[in-house]
Amino acid sequence: MSAPLPSAKSPPSHVAIIMDGNGRWARERGLVRAEGHAEGARSVREVVRTCREVGVRWLTLYAFSLANWQRPQAEVEALMRLLIRFSEREAVELKERGIAVQVIGDLDELPTATRRAVEHLVASTRPEGGAEPTMTLSLALSYGGRRDILDAMRALAVRVKAGQLLPEELDERWLRAQMSTRELPDVDLLVRTGGEQRLSDFLLLESAYAELYFTPVLWPDFREHHLLEALDTFARRERRFGLTGDQVQQTRVDA
Ligand code: IPE
Ligand code: IPE
Ligand code: MG
Repeated sequence: MSAPLPSAKSPPSHVAIIMDGNGRWARERGLVRAEGHAEGARSVREVVRTCREVGVRWLTLYAFSLANWQRPQAEVEALMRLLIRFSEREAVELKERGIAVQVIGDLDELPTATRRAVEHLVASTRPEGGAEPTMTLSLALSYGGRRDILDAMRALAVRVKAGQLLPEELDERWLRAQMSTRELPDVDLLVRTGGEQRLSDFLLLESAYAELYFTPVLWPDFREHHLLEALDTFARRERRFGLTGDQVQQTRVDA
């Protein structure tokens, strides 16, 4: 029997993943990009299960960005169909595992059939009687970090204009309460597959102190052991939040 990884003992509370590399995975195999996305859905299944098993409480997946609307229509349509299939296929198992699905971004911008399927997934995985879910899976759909901040600022400006709020009362809590990520804690570990080292407008505010983990592995190839490796790396990092290393060590001793 192999020893449990250190990460199994201290998992990050909130893991966010930029699932990149589906297109390249397909091209390497002479397949159409949509087939890369379909294989990527299998990685989603596996990563969701593993996160829940190791005790991650919040998993946020970048499934479709605002900028992705500019892709060829056929690819966008394939992604929208895939979302319907995923929502239909996974609902029962997610519910059984106590995983609640929610959406960040703008669900209203999706085609009606996709929006309905995702709404159904959200409703059918909602825990009964106000119970705490084992894990919350947030799907970022038609999501852009800058847009989310801007929309929140607009909502606040309206309240200020209406005299319900004074400019000097505005603080980060007010801002965050208006965002589509309002229920999410800050990101602890941000993973990006596919080799690029950028954020592509994902969780800009929420990742301010996230540990970043970039891997060249293409998303459709990213499976359980890759995730465990990322969690293991996270467990070995020292998060300082502006303090000195000595201060952090001292806090640990005092705790
Ligand atoms: C990520 O894979 C999936 C989405 C953006 C929806 P890509 O489709 O971006 O794959 P590459 O980056 O072209 O390989
Ligand atoms: C980011 O990947 C969006 C998702 C994974 C959904 P992209 O492939 O769209 O990002 P860029 O274009 O390489 O920055
Ligand atoms: Mg990409």
